[in-house]
Amino acid sequence: MPIIVNEKDKTFTLQTKNTSYQLKVDRHGFLLHLYYGSKVEDQNLDYLVIPVDRGFSGNPYEAGEDRAYSLDTLPLEYPTDGVGDYRINAVLVLSGGANKAVDLRFHSFKQKMGKYQLPGQPALYDETGQEAETLEIVLKDSLLGLEVTLLYGIFPADDIITRAILFCNASSLELNICRAKSASLDIPYGEWDFVHFHGRHNMERIFERNSLPHGITSFGSRRGTSSHQHNPFIIICDKKTTEFTGICYGMNLVYSGSFKAEAEIDQTGLLRLNMGINDDGFNWRLKPGEIFMTPEAVLSFSKEGFSKLSHNYHNVYRNCLCRGSYKQCRRPIVINNWEATYFDFDSKKLLEIAKEAALLGIDMLVMDDGWFGKRSNDKSSLGDWVVNDEKLPGGLKPLVDSIDGLGMKFGIWFEPEMVSEDSDLCRNHPDWVLKVPGREPVRSRSQLVLDISREDVRDYLIKSISKVLDSANIEYVKWDMNRSISDWFSNKLPDEQQGELMHRYVLGLYSLLEHFVQKYPHILFEGCSGGGGRFDPAMLYYHPLIWCSDNTDAIERLKIQYGTSFAYPVAAVSSHVSAVPNHQTGRVTSLKTRAVVAMSGNFGYELNPALLSEEEKEEIKTQICLFKKYHDILHNGLYYRLSDPFKERFSAWMMVLGDGSEALLNIVVNNAEANPKHLFVKLKGLNENDCYFIDDKKYTGASLMNAGFAIKNACEDYLSLQFYLKRE
Ligand code: GLA
Repeated sequence: MPIIVNEKDKTFTLQTKNTSYQLKVDRHGFLLHLYYGSKVEDQNLDYLVIPVDRGFSGNPYEAGEDRAYSLDTLPLEYPTDGVGDYRINAVLVLSGGANKAVDLRFHSFKQKMGKYQLPGQPALYDETGQEAETLEIVLKDSLLGLEVTLLYGIFPADDIITRAILFCNASSLELNICRAKSASLDIPYGEWDFVHFHGRHNMERIFERNSLPHGITSFGSRRGTSSHQHNPFIIICDKKTTEFTGICYGMNLVYSGSFKAEAEIDQTGLLRLNMGINDDGFNWRLKPGEIFMTPEAVLSFSKEGFSKLSHNYHNVYRNCLCRGSYKQCRRPIVINNWEATYFDFDSKKLLEIAKEAALLGIDMLVMDDGWFGKRSNDKSSLGDWVVNDEKLPGGLKPLVDSIDGLGMKFGIWFEPEMVSEDSDLCRNHPDWVLKVPGREPVRSRSQLVLDISREDVRDYLIKSISKVLDSANIEYVKWDMNRSISDWFSNKLPDEQQGELMHRYVLGLYSLLEHFVQKYPHILFEGCSGGGGRFDPAMLYYHPLIWCSDNTDAIERLKIQYGTSFAYPVAAVSSHVSAVPNHQTGRVTSLKTRAVVAMSGNFGYELNPALLSEEEKEEIKTQICLFKKYHDILHNGLYYRLSDPFKERFSAWMMVLGDGSEALLNIVVNNAEANPKHLFVKLKGLNENDCYFIDDKKYTGASLMNAGFAIKNACEDYLSLQFYLKRE
């Protein structure tokens, strides 16, 4: 039973296969958080709360002389501002413009079969028969007339608990929501490390692990997107936790806009963690009777290290977040012309690329930036989604028909949220741009941002983009977004609502994406934001794959894809083989190494095949056959990180089919050393008692996992090895 309600003890226990999560309504009606961790059966865990007067921790009035009862020291499920808890809190609401504190007490609860949804926002769903359930707990502040509903979605098989919050204004005054975290989690004891994934353009999701000090550790994005700089995913782990041992908690926000994550170790050693929309400048006006919904946070716990935690996220994202006809099946192997031509292309050049690619077995040509308006560099035409007739005479149809005639599919690039100053759209609708009146806007990559919180702007985008999509047989869209947002001012909103704009932009984006996903179910959407600047679960709800980074260098990708793999499945990662010397780093790696790395993602190419030697073309044909052969293992297998590319001289990772019958081991040497040690890799996920063939040699699962696999002569820079394992 995923939800156990004990009316006598006033506890709610959420049970997944391996974890438990317990809440309790205490004698004053506050909702305490008692436990989240390895599974315990239905037992009241309130003995874990040991009230002590710590001094300078105030007491609610009704606690009388009980100085040990303080919201400043209790583990709370959804802490609020102004009621004597001085730690980071999850809620700040103003009433009639004044801060009158927020005092939330238990009111009621409901249990429901199935998973709650958040209309207009992405959220996990249950279609997999894992019997998800929903718990709703209603808290009320009777003075403010505020009702807060805590939503819990329990996915038992994957050890996943989701959280989201509904705020309802049941008063006759306007309320201003200035902080509304999606989840807060108190963990009373432990010695914690904090793992997060920072980065920059061309180097996203870099794993970083630090010890958590007393006080507040905070990071997030204020860029209007989830960002290259910080991913909305954090892990809290015990100091001794490793890939395969020890406890850890994950929290991932299903949100593509500015977010904030905070962790505080308080005076008593309690860890409080929260995540949600970034509250810097956030101010949502909630009129009487209105409801505000936070985005969803996805929580998981593992006592078997990071590896199991990642498996929980991978499974639930593959099955209960991604949608569409390409959710489970093999996506086309694409050739994208960006690094092959940049802006310098026309139909003839694209057809030449497609002809060569078709001979290699590539499934689809994706035409990147530069096909519209008068765009021949990045300074003009964004917003004018009309085919450039000089580059593509006669429009898209003749080109796409010829590509179809080669037995290939066709995909196209858009950057819908942006506008160039040098565009008809900007000239005709200057008020559609985000811009503070009286100030010049901040330019980035010479472009400005459209105010997609506006319905008329979204209508224009729907019409102009649909016209292009309807003009030919288009089966793939790369949806790009190439700047951080500033100038947060909408001409459509009154001054007092400008604090809603950052979030309204994101809701506008979701509504656009939902429209296109529903209208064109046959189209495969690839997300992109200067590579991986918006690689988050919310985007995965619309695009089952996301361009992982503009950095296509295989060796740098090892680190980027390593960090990405902590939360996101291989099937979500777009990854291409590009030309050498690599355009971002100048590094030269073998074609094989580039393919081994790119195959651990949505495999494709990003080069001009006409420039390849015959030998290279033959090698690509083999790579494509191999990818097709291994696809099920690569995309649906359990993913194991076997080395740390930041610490070790090689990267090793493997995927194993769920029943342990087949696996693929991948190894790349990051740095050559003279006269090096042999490489020993301990494999994972096999059945100990079964025998496996690697080439013609037979090994037991136990020997490969306990004694390991040995590789000699790995002394060549960037050497790569791929071993297919088949159970006897
Ligand atoms: C971004 C993308 C690239 C490419 C360019 C085109 O940087 O990440 O892959 O599409 O835009 O301008």
